[in-house]
Amino acid sequence: MYSLLLPLLLVGEALALTTNFLPSTPHITRSGSELRLQGERWTASGGNVYWLGLDENVIPPSGEPFYVKYNASYPTKGRITEVMSTLKIMGARTVRSQTMGVSVGNPLSVMPELGEVNERAFESMDWTVREAKRFGLRIFAPFTDNYDYYHGGKFVFLRWRGIDIASTGTIDPQVQEFYTNRTIINDFKNYIKIIMTHRNPYTGLTYAEDPTIFAYETGNELGGPVFGDKNVPTEWTQEIAEFIKKLAPKKLVVDGTYGINEAHLGIKSVDIFSDHFYPMDVDKLSKGVEAVGTADKVYFAAEYGWTPQSQTKSTLGEFFAYIEKQQQKKKPIISGDHFWSLFLHNVPDCKTFVEHNDGFTLQYGNPKNPANTTEQISKIRQHMFAMQGLRVGASLPPAPCPGI
Ligand SMILES: *[C@@H]1O[C@H](CO)[C@@H](O)[C@H](O)[C@H]1NC(C)=O
Ligand SMILES: *[C@@H]1O[C@H](CO)[C@@H](O)[C@H](O)[C@H]1NC(C)=O
Ligand SMILES: *[C@@H]1O[C@H](CO)[C@@H](O)[C@H](O)[C@H]1NC(C)=O
Repeated sequence: MYSLLLPLLLVGEALALTTNFLPSTPHITRSGSELRLQGERWTASGGNVYWLGLDENVIPPSGEPFYVKYNASYPTKGRITEVMSTLKIMGARTVRSQTMGVSVGNPLSVMPELGEVNERAFESMDWTVREAKRFGLRIFAPFTDNYDYYHGGKFVFLRWRGIDIASTGTIDPQVQEFYTNRTIINDFKNYIKIIMTHRNPYTGLTYAEDPTIFAYETGNELGGPVFGDKNVPTEWTQEIAEFIKKLAPKKLVVDGTYGINEAHLGIKSVDIFSDHFYPMDVDKLSKGVEAVGTADKVYFAAEYGWTPQSQTKSTLGEFFAYIEKQQQKKKPIISGDHFWSLFLHNVPDCKTFVEHNDGFTLQYGNPKNPANTTEQISKIRQHMFAMQGLRVGASLPPAPCPGI
């Protein structure tokens, strides 16, 4: 008896070592147009931090992995930790991150070349999941991108099969082969499987199993040859959504089409529909929410630009007021919104903030922020707490920089 028990105990202890400091995390579920955590309604507001798996904004010390063509490098663990602790202070529950799902086509990607896997790329992703879990945050991520940025996307999958078309200007209709060509669909599904079956050494769980990643999106801002055309075949969306559920029955699926494609509302395996807001627009938002409500599904405003150039139609205050008012209803339908996008210190350098040039960089706690910027950040923080049913004052508490 004893000699049999001992090795079993040792195995048990070895497992406990990797996981015992992490609280157990229940799954987020969907009931109709509502997300739930342990039977209670759960809201999903937070921020976008697109660079958690792979960054393009920092030149790393020499000797560290770096791909000059795109300035691609892995973020430091300290940068990731600072993001999670700061989002918690900001009242966020979720973080949306492109590079937690999109990582193809350059030497630092999860899949540098078709069918090739670069295990090193999982290190920052694994750490992201660990730290999100430690701070009680949830992650969702798209599996591909409509564009051709450093982290890759649908154009990489097309190039791998000899379809080399420009990603800007007038887009060749052949771009639709990403959704229609059986070979390319299977390549994409194989990539999804590699991501979802990866086992995270920090948690002992695969990404498919891990409730910290509560949802995957079929893609980011997907469309067809014309920007914003929502031209994503229903069959493709259904096939990808069903594939995600097959690998992870408890994962929620977000339709990655840019805008609400009403033809997709009947797809059973899709849980959440989303739209992005540049500018913020309460009319567009309320119409989308209504449409998704008719299908009894959940709605996310998964990106909104928060700076003045995004407030030409609706102000931040008007946008938040609509979303918060919905929460008073029996069926709010909209259960989350996510600002674009968060950058913090160049950790371990805790003096310098990382810059990004898209005009939407939110640097919480940067002493150089002008008063009007601080005011907007304070509104975002109050809104994210309001989405949790909590009221906080306007002052912004300091966020520690881990300096590691
Ligand atoms: C890489 O970063 C350097 C220094 O910031 C910049 O001059 C260069 O344009 C960047 N290259 C790319 C491809 O973004
Ligand atoms: C799909 O792409 C492959 C590789 O480019 C090509 O050989 C095949 O003809 C395409 N299939 C269809 C149906 O277009
Ligand atoms: C703050 O005010 C300046 C000067 O009017 C303006 O250029 C900037 O866009 C404002 N920023 C925010 C976040 O409101």
